[in-house]
Amino acid sequence: MTNFRVAGPEDAAAVAELHGDSWRRHYRGAYADAFLDDESPEYLGEMWAKRLANRDGTRTTLAEYDGQLIGLAHVVFDADPTYGALVDNLHVRAPRKRQGIGTKLLAHAATDVPTGLFLWVLEQNTAAQAFYEARGGLRGDRKNVPPPGSESRRLNGTPACFRYYWPDPVSLTVSINAYDA
Ligand SMILES: CC(C)(COP(=O)(O)OP(=O)(O)OC[C@H]1O[C@@H](n2cnc3c(N)ncnc32)[C@H](O)[C@@H]1OP(=O)(O)O)[C@@H](O)C(=O)NCCC(=O)NCCS
Repeated sequence: MTNFRVAGPEDAAAVAELHGDSWRRHYRGAYADAFLDDESPEYLGEMWAKRLANRDGTRTTLAEYDGQLIGLAHVVFDADPTYGALVDNLHVRAPRKRQGIGTKLLAHAATDVPTGLFLWVLEQNTAAQAFYEARGGLRGDRKNVPPPGSESRRLNGTPACFRYYWPDPVSLTVSINAYDA
């Protein structure tokens, strides 16, 4: 059975590995190959070590199966005065997609969030957009993707992303107990 728990500093390397694997599978085209293939392991390793060492105002939820990491959701509380908490990252291990794990991770991200909830999804990532729409997300504005670490060479041109948002994210948390992932 899939287990969900809050991440701590000791999880940084495993989280970075899953995040990078998912980026390389799903962000290619928008992110530059050289960044994805050569630089992202170090970039994500440092980012997650820093994030999980100081977790103030955030929560990272992990999904595990037989002790193996199969998903992650990172939420930043009070990120925006209008839209509320930001789901900054949501990734499910590729072979475990479409088994309800993303739904439960999104529910964990929404738990104890008294504000709205929102996120940004790449324009090319139509599969994730279908997921957010299936979970009741509303499509908002479109903007250019901010380059990782503010380095524009890490992007291919000027890819765009869409905001998805939930003004009342309590509705998402219902799925935690709806069925077993
Ligand atoms: C997007 C993602 C988090 C969704 O998680 P998931 O565990 O695969 O999704 P779920 O199984 O909970 O899906 C719930 C519902 O969403 C919809 N959905 C999910 N994936 C879909 C897809 N590829 N195409 C169409 N609809 C989809 C379906 O209605 C699905 O219900 P169903 O399987 O009973 O038809 C996951 O697929 C993932 O990690 N993708 C790669 C990384 C990524 O794109 N992350 C988002 C970055 S913004």
